[in-house]
Amino acid sequence: MGNLAWLNGKISELDDAKVGVQDRGFLFGDGVYDVIKIYNGHPFRLISHLERLQRSCNAINIELPELIGEVERIIEILIKESGCTDGFIYMQVTRGCAPRDHFFPIGAEPTFLIYILDLGFPSTKTSRKITECITLPDERWMNCHIKSTNLLPNILSLQKAKEAGAGEAILYRSDGAVTEGTRTNIFAVVDGTVRTHPESPLILSGITRNIALDILREANITVVEEAFSIDELGRASEVWTTSTGLEISPVNKVDGQLIDTIVPGPVCSLLVDEFWKKVEAECGV
Ligand code: PDD
Repeated sequence: MGNLAWLNGKISELDDAKVGVQDRGFLFGDGVYDVIKIYNGHPFRLISHLERLQRSCNAINIELPELIGEVERIIEILIKESGCTDGFIYMQVTRGCAPRDHFFPIGAEPTFLIYILDLGFPSTKTSRKITECITLPDERWMNCHIKSTNLLPNILSLQKAKEAGAGEAILYRSDGAVTEGTRTNIFAVVDGTVRTHPESPLILSGITRNIALDILREANITVVEEAFSIDELGRASEVWTTSTGLEISPVNKVDGQLIDTIVPGPVCSLLVDEFWKKVEAECGV
C-alpha cells in the first residue's frame, strides 16, 4: 500500500526507488515522461498516454524498454498493489546512466520509472477549480510536441504566474500567437467561435485537448484549430484550459482582466459535463 514505484523491473516504495547520479535524466534532462490520471482505480485514456510516451521516445531516439502491453500490465499491478483509487501514474524514460558526455552513450540501458501518486481523495466534477491566468512570452524550444523532462521554461513561467496570484501562464510566440499553457492546452471562444492552436511542434498534443475536440464535434459545435492572437484572447468570451491534472478548467481572469460572461460559460459547461460522462463511462466514477 502507499505510493509504489516500478524502476527497471523492480517494485518498491516510491521513496526507496533510487537512480544513479550519472543518469542522463538528472545530468541533461535527457528523457521524456507522461502522466495519467487514475479515477476509481482505473487509468483514464491509458492507451493514448502510452502511445504518446512511445512517440516521445521515438522522437529522441530512445527505445521504450517495454512493449506497450507490458507497461499496461505493470500499471495494473502497481494500481492493485498500491490500493490507489484516485491519483496519478507518472512514467519517465531517460537515456540511462553513463559517464557524462554530450554524445549519446554507447550501450547504456534506458532508465524506465513508473510510479503511482495517491491523491488521497477523489477528483470529481465539483472539485475542479476556476483558473486565473497571466500571459507570458513562450520561451520554449521548437519541439514542444515531445513531452520532454526539460521543463525549465514551463516551471519558471508557472512560478511567475503563482507570484502574480494566478494558477497558469498562457504562452504566446513573438508573432503574438497563443500556443498553450505551461502545463495545459488553451481554448478560447473568439467572436463566437471556439479556437485552439493546431497540433504542431509548438504545442503538446494533449490527450484532454483531443477529448475536448471530440466532445465539441459530437455536439456539433464548430471548433477551429487555428492559433488565436493575444489580442483575440483579450476579447474572448470564454477561455478554458485542458489537462490530465486539472481536466477542463474554466478561466475567469487573464492578466487581471475579468472574462465578461459568467464563468464557466455555456461551451465550457457543456465540456465539463461531457468530460465527466466519459470518465464515468471508462472508469465508473
Ligand atoms: N502536463 N501542454 C503542456 C505543456 C503540458 O505539460 C500538458 C500536460 C498539457 C496537457 O496534456 P494532457 O491533456 O495530455 O495532460 C499541455 C502534464 C499533465 C504534466 O506535465 O504534469
